[in-house]
Amino acid sequence: MLKVPSATPEPPMLEQPRRLESVQTERGSIPVYATGTVEQPWAQYTATDHAVWQQLYARQQDLLVGRACDAFLAAQEKLRMPADHIPKFSDLNQILGAATGWQIVAVEGLLPELDFFTHLANRRFPVSWWIRKPEQIDYIEEPDLFHDLFGHVPLLMDPMFADYLEAYGKGGVKAHGFGPEALMQLARLYWYTVEFGLIRQPDGLRIYGAGIVSSKGESIHCLESPAPNRIGFDLERVMRTRYCIDRYQKTYFVIDSFEQLIDATLPDFAPLYARLAGQDTIPAGTVLDTDGVLNRGTGEGWAQNADV
Ligand code: PHE
Ligand code: CO
Repeated sequence: MLKVPSATPEPPMLEQPRRLESVQTERGSIPVYATGTVEQPWAQYTATDHAVWQQLYARQQDLLVGRACDAFLAAQEKLRMPADHIPKFSDLNQILGAATGWQIVAVEGLLPELDFFTHLANRRFPVSWWIRKPEQIDYIEEPDLFHDLFGHVPLLMDPMFADYLEAYGKGGVKAHGFGPEALMQLARLYWYTVEFGLIRQPDGLRIYGAGIVSSKGESIHCLESPAPNRIGFDLERVMRTRYCIDRYQKTYFVIDSFEQLIDATLPDFAPLYARLAGQDTIPAGTVLDTDGVLNRGTGEGWAQNADV
């Protein structure tokens, strides 16, 4: 799931989802819960839907050898998603639940941010139930089932990453009390770690961000292109850095381990939010003197003013 800040806070989701009724959506008739979660309408997937999954799965799996981090590949192996048809969430939930207690919940699309945080805080990961159309194979603006499931769910099998995401959700619920600036800073942290994070392994840089592992173009670009900056992870720096949502990232932040990420984000953010309040944001492509630069990007092909 990509997380997009929304203007109006919503009440936290109920612990017991209440089913309302079947609702006709553009993509079919599905049972809708009051909380915004739905039941995965597995029987309704078409042969084309399964073929899209199969094609994307095969293509990414090939690319990820030597590019995705060891933790991602190991988690994938334990989870054993089928390559030739869309997985049933209930099957994956048994394996996930036993490993780390995480569960997937099906949703129609992006959730209001407090609902999203509340799911994560309770070890539930929202996954879009629908998959992109064949003509959207290479690019889709919204997070669909392939991005959410293939990209995000494997690392929920990893105990450290599982803890990080739960802590992030709790931090998000808390940040709601601090206002929109704090939420934006937290969104930047999610963007540059959960979606577009790189990690340094003894054998080289690798991908762990879901936005990258689910994208053919970006899984090559982020490691092999001379255009982007690759900069050592620094919490405050990341939380000040704007980002572009509809093109390759200008800057990737590199962690050394999930342990480093957890250690950096574990402390109470309240003093951090207070400190950041007086500081300017940093444009997506800017390199600072204080940065631990691994590669300074050439900036080739960058759109101007593309970051938010
Ligand atoms: N420690 C953060 C806080 O107190 C919560 C958090 C943890 C946020 C992990 C992001 C990631 O708000
Ligand atoms: Co996502």
